[in-house]
Formats: sequence, structure tokens, C-alpha cells
Amino acid sequence: MDYPFWDISVGYGLLMAIVAVVHVFVSHFAIGGGLYLVVAESFARRNSDTLKLNFLKKLSKFFVLVTLVFGALTGVAIWFIIGLLNPAATEALIHHFVWAWASEWCFFLIEILAAIIYLYGWDKMTPRNHLVVGWIYFGAAWMSLFIINGILSFMLTPGDWLTTGSFFDGFFNDTFWSSLVLRTGVCVMLAGLYSTLVISLYPRSDFKASTVRYNAAWGLIGMAIILPSLWWYWQGIPGAVTTTAIEMMPTPLDAWSFAWRFGMALMIAFLLFGLVMRRHVSLGVAVVMMALGLAWFGSFEWFRESIRKPFVIYDYMYGNGLALAMADNYREDGLLPYIVFRTGDDGADLLRHACRRCHTIDGYHPLKPAFDGTDEIFIAGIIKGAHALKGNMPPFLGIENEAAMIAGHLYNRVDHGPLKAMYALEGAELGHKVYDIRCGKCHEFYGYNDKSESLLGLDPEEINDILDMAEDFAEEMPPFTGDDAERQALIEYLQFMTEQAESKTP
Ligand code: HEC
Ligand code: HEC
Repeated sequence: MDYPFWDISVGYGLLMAIVAVVHVFVSHFAIGGGLYLVVAESFARRNSDTLKLNFLKKLSKFFVLVTLVFGALTGVAIWFIIGLLNPAATEALIHHFVWAWASEWCFFLIEILAAIIYLYGWDKMTPRNHLVVGWIYFGAAWMSLFIINGILSFMLTPGDWLTTGSFFDGFFNDTFWSSLVLRTGVCVMLAGLYSTLVISLYPRSDFKASTVRYNAAWGLIGMAIILPSLWWYWQGIPGAVTTTAIEMMPTPLDAWSFAWRFGMALMIAFLLFGLVMRRHVSLGVAVVMMALGLAWFGSFEWFRESIRKPFVIYDYMYGNGLALAMADNYREDGLLPYIVFRTGDDGADLLRHACRRCHTIDGYHPLKPAFDGTDEIFIAGIIKGAHALKGNMPPFLGIENEAAMIAGHLYNRVDHGPLKAMYALEGAELGHKVYDIRCGKCHEFYGYNDKSESLLGLDPEEINDILDMAEDFAEEMPPFTGDDAERQALIEYLQFMTEQAESKTP
């Protein structure tokens, strides 16, 4: 909380995802494309294949334009965005890996210079020197991946670094090698995709057909590296992390299954259009394949980002930028004394630092719908019990009074009034709504932290007593503060649901 909070109503997670996915898509191509160019050039030179050499010349123009201009722009954009979104995490990464970043920037400089020399050297250099420059380009580009990969994989699996603080423990962490192999596969696969895009613009010919097949081979080899290393990557993530995800985190699991499905679809597309129907690769087909590749890579990166929750650096810093090591201080002194830049509205400042990095009021991951028709006591209860909600959120690190201040701030921004009037519902339907809002975020029937067994066979009177004793069951559980109609409707719904659950279990 040493930095001011960049308060805009856009969802930060979404903003980050868009910039990051575009950047990784380009930056991995920058590596795979380099390899593709030198390997294909070596073969073409050996066979004096002028058609191929002309194609490669054209491809390298497209390549340098995309990677240097677009890659560098989105790379700067990433720094811009992470610095604004999570300055504390960015600071931690720079601080612990300063020499890694410095080396990465040197490799990047070599990469840029070599790319420019390669592009302008086609007709001016001897074939041998031209190829040497190409290999230098690829080597430097891959080394920059090697380094960034150490830092990215560290964020999910910092491992021994947490206790030793050693640079190499953090860098060569449990997902370093699987992630490096996986990303190298991605580079190779993307080379196949981009070069397919360029060749798709050519008129139908034998040359086009054979190049399409050649490109598909790159795509397939890339996928053959990617799919097993996806599995290897999963194995490297500590069991506790994946188990928690399976129990309570729908997002990373969805992302993971999307990654497999898009991966398979891409594999089939490469087989179909690269081998069977290779004379039919039009711009449209190439663009669809590109979109599949983007969707695949997007899902993987989304998985990697979301499975880390509630942390931004696992077991070290929460997603809202609060360091684990400071947790006891925050719980003791509250957050306010540690917020350096204060606006005068304490409720707003607290909300920003505790929740706003992941939530908006009514945009991306909105808080308003969760709290419409409720009250300050309930909102404060959810804030204090945030870590018990499905989805794996960070715990609230502050004092009682601060939770109440956030609740007050939120309460002023949600709709007031009984749920019955707000949603025009009656009876069990109203009860369902009350359940979704007041209980369902922590207890799912047939799912996360199911409580139907505890409620089974209870009469309305007994369920009523349970609602009165909410606070005695768990510190995290807010008291029931709905009105009488909501209480009766909830009791009716709970009875109905537990009977259902009973009749389904033999
Ligand atoms: C590290 C990011 C992060 C932080 C910090 C965070 N949340 Fe969340 N929260 C989420 C995500 C992501 C979800 C959605 C869970 C899902 O569907 O996977 C969520 C879900 C919720 C929900 C349930 C929403 C619904 O409609 O089901 C509520 C309520 C909520 N958060 C409140 C808060 C409050 C209050 C704070 C601050 C004390 C907070 N969160 C801090 C990420 C965060
Ligand atoms: C912020 C999260 C949260 C909310 C909201 C919440 N609970 Fe709970 N509830 C818990 C936790 C945590 C426990 C105790 C630990 C456990 O058993 O998992 C618990 C325990 C219970 C139990 C205990 C049973 C037993 O076996 O001892 C019942 C019944 C229950 N909740 C019902 C409800 C109902 C009904 C609502 C809505 C009115 C509700 N809860 C809202 C978090 C919550």
C-alpha cells in the first residue's frame, strides 16, 4: 500500500488479460518464427530453391514488422499495466530478479539488432553470414524466453525460495522446466500458424501446397511438444494448489478444460488442412486456425493466472498486493495506517486496497449484485468471511471497524429494499434467491461446503433456530439479517432442498 491506487471502472483482470495474451502471442511467435526462418532458409539455400527463398524474404518482412513493432509495443504496455495494476507485486519481481531482467533486456537488444540485420541482409550478405545472424537472432530470442519463463513460473511455484530467498531456488522452480518446454512448443506451433497465414495469401500452386504441408508439420511438432508438457506442468504444481482448485475454484478448471479442447481442435485443424485438404487453405481458414491458436494460448495463460488465486505470488503476496508476511500487522493495526496515499474517504480507500484490484462495483466481477437488497451487517460479514467463499479469495486483512467501513461504503452503492419487491418473487422462489445471496456463496447443494446433511430432517422451528445461531457455527458465517418474509421463504426452500437431497441419496 505504498503506492496510490489507479482507480478506473474497467476490470483490471480483463485489461491485463487482453494486453498479456496479445503480447505472449506475438512474443512466442518472435522466437518460433526466427527458428522457422533459419531452418527453412538453410534447406532452401542447400536446394537452391528460389521460390522458397522469395517466400522467406517476404515472411521475414512480416515477421520483423509484427515482432519488433507490435511485440515491443505490447511489451511496454505490459510493464505499464502491471505497474499500474499491482505496483507492489511488480516491485517485488523487479527487486528479487533485477539481474534476470537486466540480462533479459540485453538479449532483447541483441534480438532486435539481429532481426534488423537479418531483414536487410537478404541480398547484401553472404548466405553463410546471413544464416549466422539468423541463428544469433533465434538464440537471443530463446534466451529471453528462458529468463522470463523463470520469473513467470516463479509466481505460481516459488517453492524453496519462500524459505531460502535464493535467486536460483526461485528461478529454477518446480514448473520452470515444464513451462520452458511447453513454451518452446508454443513457439514452434506459432511459427506454423503465422507462416500458414502468410502462405494463405498466395494463389493456388504446388509451391503453396507443399509450403502448407511444411507449415503444418511445424504446427504438429509444436502441438506434440505442448500436449504432454501441459500434463507435466500440472504435475509440477503443488498438490495442495490443484486440490483446492478442484474443490472451490471453477475458473481455473474451466480454463484448463478449454486449453485441452482448443489444443485438440488445433491439432485436428493442422492435420486436416495441412495434410488432407492442403490445397484449400484460404485466408479464411488461416485466420480461423490463428483464432484457435489464440484461444488455446489464452486459455492456458488464463489458467496459469487464475490458479494462483488468492495470490499474485504464491504464498508470498495476495492478489490485492498485500504481503503475507505483513498479515499479522494488518490484523492488529488495521490497514489504514499502512495506506500511504489517502483520499480522505476511508471506506473507499479500504475497498480499493482490499477488494478493488479484482472487483468493480457494477462492471467486471461486480460487487453490487452480490449485495443488492442486503444490509451493512451482512456485507461486513461477507467481507470478514471472504476466504470462506467459493472461488478462493484472500482473507480480509484488517480490523473489525474497517470491515464495517467498507460495508458502509458498499451499502451506499447498492439497491435497497426487500428482495421480495426487488425481484417480485414469492415462496420457495424467493427462498432460492435469499439462499443464493445469503448462503450460496459459501454453501452449494451437492457441491462446495454442502450443508444439506446438517439441515436434514429438521422442522421449520429448528431451521429457524439455526438461522438465529449462525454466528455460533463459524466465525466466517454472517448472522441472518433478512426480513421476516425472507426468513420464512428461506426456511421453506431449505426444507425443500434437503428433502430433495435425501430422496436422491439411497
Ligand atoms: C485476488 C482477487 C480478489 C480479491 C482481492 C477479492 N476478490 Fe472477491 N472474488 C474474486 C473472484 C475472482 C470472484 C469470483 C469467484 C469465481 O466465480 O470464481 C470473487 C467472488 C466474490 C463474491 C461473490 C460474488 C458472486 O456474485 O458470487 C463476493 C461477494 C466477493 N468476491 C467479495 C469480495 C470482497 C468484499 C473483497 C474485499 C474484502 C474481495 N471480494 C476481494 C476475486 C477477489
Ligand atoms: C461467508 C461464508 C458463509 C455464509 C455466507 C454462510 N455460511 Fe454457513 N458456514 C460457513 C462456515 C465457514 C461454516 C463452518 C465450517 C464448516 O462446517 O465448513 C458454516 C456452517 C454452517 C452450518 C453448520 C453446520 C454444522 O454441521 O455444524 C450450517 C447449517 C450453515 N452453515 C448454514 C448456512 C446458511 C443457511 C446460510 C445462509 C443463511 C449460511 N450458512 C451462510 C460459512 C458461511
